[in-house]
Amino acid sequence: EKPWTVPALLDAKRGGRKLVMLTCYDAGFARALDAGGVDLVLVGDSLGMVVQGHGSTLPVTVDDIAYHTACVARGLARALLIADLPFQADASPQTALAASTRLLQAGAGMVKLEGAGHKLEVIRYLVEREIPVCAHLGLTPQSVLRLGGYKVQGRDDAAASQVRADALAVAQAGASLLVLECVPTPLAAAITADLEIPTVGIGAGPQCDGQVLVLHDLLGINSGHRRPKFVKDFLADGGSIAGAIGAFAAAVRDGTFPDAEHSYA
Ligand code: KIV
Ligand code: NA
Repeated sequence: EKPWTVPALLDAKRGGRKLVMLTCYDAGFARALDAGGVDLVLVGDSLGMVVQGHGSTLPVTVDDIAYHTACVARGLARALLIADLPFQADASPQTALAASTRLLQAGAGMVKLEGAGHKLEVIRYLVEREIPVCAHLGLTPQSVLRLGGYKVQGRDDAAASQVRADALAVAQAGASLLVLECVPTPLAAAITADLEIPTVGIGAGPQCDGQVLVLHDLLGINSGHRRPKFVKDFLADGGSIAGAIGAFAAAVRDGTFPDAEHSYA
């Protein structure tokens, strides 16, 4: 199969083709994900928690993401590589451009950033400068201090309307993809119907255009934190790492993951 491109994401949504996405932090796993037919690979700032052992994503630096992006890029032939802008790298358009340039030069094909509000200007600034952007709404882990923990977002009507308006705004600003984290299934379904760009859910129900999990969660590696409801250990049934990756990809494509047990009503 040919390598993924940014325009092909829109075609996938129009064609009703589900997107399979996993996080990854090194070349060995990158090779396994690519061989397993994973479409999108994310060097997430979750590496602060699952690789570095921190309690949040806030300590992660651009150097950290650039290092892991370069490692992962060497293992990929087909998947589209997305790299997170870590905490405050996207505080201004200029810092976001500098960080994103490094990440694209390290091998990423797109950068991801959290939030809307003043980030809309950042998204526009990057897209105008030929940097594809993935937005990220709902539970944004870089907001953990303000939120007071990792909680489901958009539960009441006012909060849901805000997330829905933010989703339209990030798409309007030029984002090519939208990650929705920890929002009720009906809200994610409404946003997915609103947008031309694909949504990729994590704890956002089965009606998103794709699904993403943290690699360590997929493999049942316990990070010492309480396991969120949306996490499923695919290694338990998959029997091997390749089997777990294949089982996740198949379950996303046939719509059996996430089920109600792994979603928020
Ligand atoms: O950092 C990360 O792993 C992420 C995913 C959970 C979407 O942002
Ligand atoms: Na992230």
